[in-house]
Order: sequence, then structure tokens, then C-alpha cells
Amino acid sequence: MKDLSGRVAVVTGAASGIGRAMVERFADEGMRVVLADVENEPLQQAVTELQARGVDAVGRRVDVRDPEDLENLANLTLRTFGAVHVLCNNAGVDAGGPFEDIPDGAWHWVMDVNFFGVVNGCRAFLPALRAAGEGHIVNTASLAAVNSGMRTMAPYIASKFAVLGFTENLAVELAESDPQIGVSIILPGGVKTRMTDSERNRPEGLPGTEHPLRKEVVDGIRSATERDGLDPSTVAESVVSAIRDQSFYVLTHRQLALDSVKRRLEWMTGDQQPLPRILR
Ligand SMILES: NC(=O)c1ccc[n+]([C@@H]2O[C@H](COP(=O)([O-])OP(=O)(O)OC[C@H]3O[C@@H](n4cnc5c(N)ncnc54)[C@H](O)[C@@H]3O)[C@@H](O)[C@H]2O)c1
Repeated sequence: MKDLSGRVAVVTGAASGIGRAMVERFADEGMRVVLADVENEPLQQAVTELQARGVDAVGRRVDVRDPEDLENLANLTLRTFGAVHVLCNNAGVDAGGPFEDIPDGAWHWVMDVNFFGVVNGCRAFLPALRAAGEGHIVNTASLAAVNSGMRTMAPYIASKFAVLGFTENLAVELAESDPQIGVSIILPGGVKTRMTDSERNRPEGLPGTEHPLRKEVVDGIRSATERDGLDPSTVAESVVSAIRDQSFYVLTHRQLALDSVKRRLEWMTGDQQPLPRILR
């Protein structure tokens, strides 16, 4: 899909960070946009701001953990714009701690949003993407999808490995059954967003992890990201290029991603135990 003008894009996690930047970038291309997020207030604000600059935009509160919410979002998109061409499964959260301290509910929350949210999105929108005659799916993973060993982040890492496995498999499957539908996966490192504040969306009744190591890790990621993180608009720019060029991997932190994969290859070929990662 070279010309995005007039096409329809749906983005989950669109009220903040990378999702918000993708929507803005799509709007710059003249696309019509559908914003979905679990946080209603920033979602409505984003829609209002887009409409004020003349963009055809609608928003809907969606919890990506719920397949029915995604089905309703697909129906809303078709009712409003008649088609869908680009789907970005981007909503994500992080919760963790030292392995034995992580409550069962935290595992389910992170896997349900980061992994099943992506599966739910693909399942709900695939028929409409197929009907449009051409389309593109963009799933947001992370450098964490190729880089294990981040302290206190086992659920996040596992969820992003799962997104990568699923997305690669989907790409192979669609290349055979629906070659007109492209697939990309984003593997960003640090990006200046509200990710380290994702506990704001923690489901009611789910206990937090009080371990001091968790706070140390999250504070460390926050300050490293504030210092060195990419602006989300840079990620959005790479996404638009990937859709145009039909690239699968969107490596916004290319060298870090390649180094991580190389490290795993060394563990395999050298029969080594996984060692602590360089980035902490
Ligand atoms: N910021 C980074 O450094 C970084 C690095 C790698 C990957 N990522 C990934 O980028 C994606 C976007 O995160 P971000 O960094 O922009 O963070 P962010 O917190 O700024 O944005 C995430 C958005 O997802 C929404 N969300 C959370 N749970 C949801 C749910 N159940 N249903 C619908 N929406 C929900 C949030 O309300 C928020 O608007 C995530 O998948 C994250 O894992 C971020």
C-alpha cells in the first residue's frame, strides 16, 4: 500500500505514546482514523484534537482483553468509514517483580493485554481487511521480544516473545492465504511514553508488587528513557515506511535488536547458559 490517503487505520492504545503518535502520523498522510483505548478521558481528548485539525477521527473505549470489544470496534469502523486498511495492535502494559513475588493476576493482566489483545484484534479485523482487497497489520512487540534477562520483567518479556511468535506465524500464513495483507512487527527499545506508568491501568483488585527491586528497575527504565528514549513520532515514521515498503521487522533500535539476536545465537551455537543481558 503506497498511497495511504483516504485509507482507514485503527489503532489500539491510541490515547498515549506510540499509539497516539501513529494516529497523528496516519492523519498527516490523509488517512481516516479510529482510536481505541481503555482510558476514556485522554482518548476523547485525542479525538477532539484530531477533529479540530480537520481529521476524520472516531474513538471508542475498548479493553483489548475482551474479544467482544474488538468485534464491536470492527463493526463501528465499518459503519463509520465502510472499510479498514491498517490495523495497529499496540496497547500494552507492564507489571512484574522478582519471579516468586509476581501475583497470578499480574501474569494474566500482562498476557491478556499484550498478547491476547493482539490476537483478539487480528481475529476481529481480518475479515474486514480481507474484504478491503488490501491491508496491513502492525503488531507492537518490543526489544523485549528478542532480549530476555530484564530483571522483574518476566511477564512482559514472555508476552512480547509470544507476540513475536504469533506475528511471524501469522505473516507466513497470510503470505499464502492472503498475500494482499501485509504484516509488520515493531521492536522498539526505549521510547518517551507513559509505559513506566502503566500501573495506572491495573485492574481493580489486582495487588501491586511492593518489592524494592521492582521500583529500582522501573525507576531505572524511566530515567534511561527520559534521557535516551526515542520520540514516539520517530517510531510512527518507521511504521508508515514499513507499511509502504512491506517490511516485516520495524527495528527502531536496530543495533540493539541485532545484538540481542546474535547473543541468543551464541548461546545456542556455543551451548552456553543464558547470561545477564547488557541492558538492564
Ligand atoms: N515506551 C517504550 O519504551 C516501549 C518500548 C517497547 C515496546 N513498547 C510497547 O509500545 C506499546 C505502546 O505503549 P507506550 O510505550 O506508548 O505506552 P503508553 O502507556 O504511553 O501507551 C499505552 C496505551 O495502551 C492503553 N492500554 C492499556 N491497557 C489497555 C487495554 N486493556 N485496552 C486498551 N488499551 C489499553 C493505555 O491506556 C495507553 O493509552 C506497548 O505495547 C508497549 O509494550 C513501548
